[in-house]
Amino acid sequence: MKFLKNITKENLPVHIAIIMDGNGRWAKKKGNKRIFGHKNGVKAVKQTVEAAGEAGIKYLTLYAFSSENWNRPKIEVDALMTLLISAVKNETENLMNSNVRVKAIGNISALPESVTENLNQIINKTKNNTGLTLILALSYSARNEITNAVKQIASEIVSGKIKPETINENTISDRLYTHNIPDPELLIRTSGEYRLSNFLLWQISYTELYFTDTLWPDFKKEDLFKAIYDFQQRERRFGKTSEQIKAKN
Ligand code: IPE
Ligand code: IPE
Ligand code: MG
Repeated sequence: MKFLKNITKENLPVHIAIIMDGNGRWAKKKGNKRIFGHKNGVKAVKQTVEAAGEAGIKYLTLYAFSSENWNRPKIEVDALMTLLISAVKNETENLMNSNVRVKAIGNISALPESVTENLNQIINKTKNNTGLTLILALSYSARNEITNAVKQIASEIVSGKIKPETINENTISDRLYTHNIPDPELLIRTSGEYRLSNFLLWQISYTELYFTDTLWPDFKKEDLFKAIYDFQQRERRFGKTSEQIKAKN
């Protein structure tokens, strides 16, 4: 089945988030080093960004490096950082031509200067683009993000800027890295792992989850279209009954 043809424009997820997992296992299966998997993972990223644009998705968040990933062997961390720099450099023109706006979320200041420099360049250069918004989660930890929001709220209370009784869900959302980005409707994780690994914990409270055994370097345009198609077959009830949802249509 050709999934793109069967996707309806009316019911598209505005925001898709992806936990890109399985690079290491993909390389191992081929008798190669883990970094070979990461290099091929970049190719899958290109495919996915293109596919998201073709499908009319507005926001795509890619989990590229978690705070916990700093604990990997130094040689792998260094290789990932180098890869990130080259991907950003090599793709800037392409992303400009495709009208993609790049953003980053996470503890960006923890990244090496060479990474932040290149990252800031692409963010600045693409900031007025009006097509897909591509959000890279780098040195990202959802618990850290929420903890920082709590700290900020606490200091705003101390300084008298806000009152405890006025705190609501928006007070928290507005202080997350994702403050001007809608919550994802669809979260995809590749490689057959069924966990969230500290990703967007606040933002995914009602997100549809989609798991696939495909290892990230094998993820192709059709895989994204398939996930969107699968999403469109679901009934999102938000606590209501199926009858209530159907009565509205
Ligand atoms: C995902 O692939 C990429 C990053 C976490 C940077 P992995 O490197 O986690 O691959 P596996 O899970 O070991 O196969
Ligand atoms: C999650 O993948 C982080 C990224 C995809 C960047 P991991 O491979 O690091 O997750 P765990 O440690 O297996 O949960
Ligand atoms: Mg992994």
